[in-house]
Amino acid sequence: MQEVDDVLSRLRRYPDVEAVNLYAVDAADRLILDVAADALAAAGGEGEGVAVVDDGYGALTLGAIATHELSGVRVHQDLLTGELALANNARALGLSDRYTAHALGRRLLEGARVVLLRLPRALSGLAEIADAVARYADPEVEVFAGARDKYLTPAMNDVLSESFASVRASRGRQKSRILLAQHPKPLGDPPFPVRNQLDELGLEVVAHGAAFSGPRLDIGTRFLLEHVRRMKPDAREAIDLGCGTGILAVALAKARPRISVVGTDQSAAAVASARATAAANCVADRVTVLRDDAMAGVAAHSADLVVCNPPFHVGAAVHTGSAIKMFAETGRVLRPGGELWTVYNSHLNYRGVMERLVGKTDVVARNRKFTVTRSMRGLRDVRQE
Ligand SMILES: C[S@@+](CC[C@H](N)C(=O)[O-])C[C@H]1O[C@@H](n2cnc3c(N)ncnc32)[C@H](O)[C@@H]1O
Repeated sequence: MQEVDDVLSRLRRYPDVEAVNLYAVDAADRLILDVAADALAAAGGEGEGVAVVDDGYGALTLGAIATHELSGVRVHQDLLTGELALANNARALGLSDRYTAHALGRRLLEGARVVLLRLPRALSGLAEIADAVARYADPEVEVFAGARDKYLTPAMNDVLSESFASVRASRGRQKSRILLAQHPKPLGDPPFPVRNQLDELGLEVVAHGAAFSGPRLDIGTRFLLEHVRRMKPDAREAIDLGCGTGILAVALAKARPRISVVGTDQSAAAVASARATAAANCVADRVTVLRDDAMAGVAAHSADLVVCNPPFHVGAAVHTGSAIKMFAETGRVLRPGGELWTVYNSHLNYRGVMERLVGKTDVVARNRKFTVTRSMRGLRDVRQE
């Protein structure tokens, strides 16, 4: 048996952004493992009764496996970077064969008696997870859902209470707390994905719980879409980078019958939503969606146009690392003469970064909150690589 501290101290965030103020393990992970210890021990060595949802970088999965000598643990992580980090960490610890990765659904949860959950920031994301656990897990399931206090809201209890008859909070420790949910309620039809007709764009959005902005149009995205006609008019291959529910990809495909668009997002919920949005709008033949970290799987110099409403969070922390990674990838993927169109909160002042990583960058529009820019990938920029 490995000591939990020995396991946790060896975890890394890679390939997610690594920085001094960003951690692979925190006090909420440790509290979940401690509060769930008896239930995990009772789940036994086979571990098939244990499911882990939205583990950050492997602390819950590998901490539970190492401390309780589990195997057969089932894991779902919405974010690809978390999934890759868990796989890397498991390999380094020799624990790769002790867990399997699954989509959020029946195969993840059937027969589970213990669920360890990192509470997601979006309440709708939590609602979809709670519904799935109540629907598919063992009726005796115990859910240990934890977070740092600063991300906990009373509304999370209400959301869990829609799917469970008993929800109570643990005593806090090191600014972290656990919500314990038990006794699944009888449920009607699955509430996700949700659909919404966006009349202003003439398109239908389909959204799973954890997808950015749900089935609504983000105001930054709306501002970027005002300029769709000016975005490299002769583009044949475009990328919607960080596509969320796929609104930009689908709007572009609908506006230009000859364009093909690849949407990429690291969130499983976003990818499922964008595929469904493309199908709902009859453009699935020209909109392909990939679960990818930025666009690591896209070939160099293969796109004429990249559209992006970049994230300003890395996980729960406000950090520009993800956006910078996206701009660096855009510089690699655009053909000479290709364009990046982006929208961002004006205070973030990304323009210098885009000049450096993509090419000459002009401000196309600015309102009280947002800036829209166009960056051109020059011939010289490509030769210098
Ligand atoms: C501000 S949202 C924009 C979503 C969508 N394009 C829209 O306009 O509604 C940013 C998106 O980037 C995604 N994202 C964040 N980091 C990423 C990464 N490393 N690779 C791919 N997608 C990422 C998030 O999951 C999120 O869907």
